[in-house]
Amino acid sequence: MSCNTTDHELEAQDRKINRFLQNVDHKMVVMSGKGGVGKSTVATNLAVFLSSQGYQVGLLDVDVHGPSIAGLLGLTGLKLNIIGDQIQPYHYTDNLKVVSIQGLLDQPDTPLIWRGPVKIGIIRQFLADVNWGPLDFLIIDSPPGTGDEPLTVAQTVSGC
Ligand SMILES: Nc1ncnc2c1ncn2[C@@H]1O[C@H](COP(=O)(O)OP(=O)(O)OP(=O)(O)O)[C@@H](O)[C@H]1O
Ligand SMILES: [Mg+2]
Repeated sequence: MSCNTTDHELEAQDRKINRFLQNVDHKMVVMSGKGGVGKSTVATNLAVFLSSQGYQVGLLDVDVHGPSIAGLLGLTGLKLNIIGDQIQPYHYTDNLKVVSIQGLLDQPDTPLIWRGPVKIGIIRQFLADVNWGPLDFLIIDSPPGTGDEPLTVAQTVSGC
């Protein structure tokens, strides 16, 4: 998404996001004002457990500056494919699909210097343009604090 996105494009993206979210039975956002307290560990364990119980689970890492889900699942270096206009999630198992910004970077350790609107744009794309398929649970791992990423997720997913 470019910074010149028009209102019309944003509305179309909103409709896609709403369509996707309406079809997810349970949405969980793991967040905390403090860093290093175990958010990513909790999000990953929840996702692995629920998927092992037979639920279809999507695990989304929106920590654009310090994505750690791929590392926790042993997927460092993971590349996400883009087919047509859709990002293909990594199929960790038949029941667990994973998307992390790390999967779109050339180098997993590349430092990202992105301003708020760019971060908001990529998170919205993760909700609008990923081929998640039907999900029982969507679990979102947020970075610490109350910056653009957690606020975008909270506003988009819970509508608050
Ligand atoms: N229940 C726990 N008991 C002890 N150590 C834990 C526990 N949960 C996580 N840790 C450890 O704490 C560290 C931070 O965990 P984690 O990366 O999950 O935190 P985070 O809140 O996601 O961090 P960040 O704010 O940087 O995203 C890791 O080394 C992890 O192994
Ligand atoms: Mg984390």
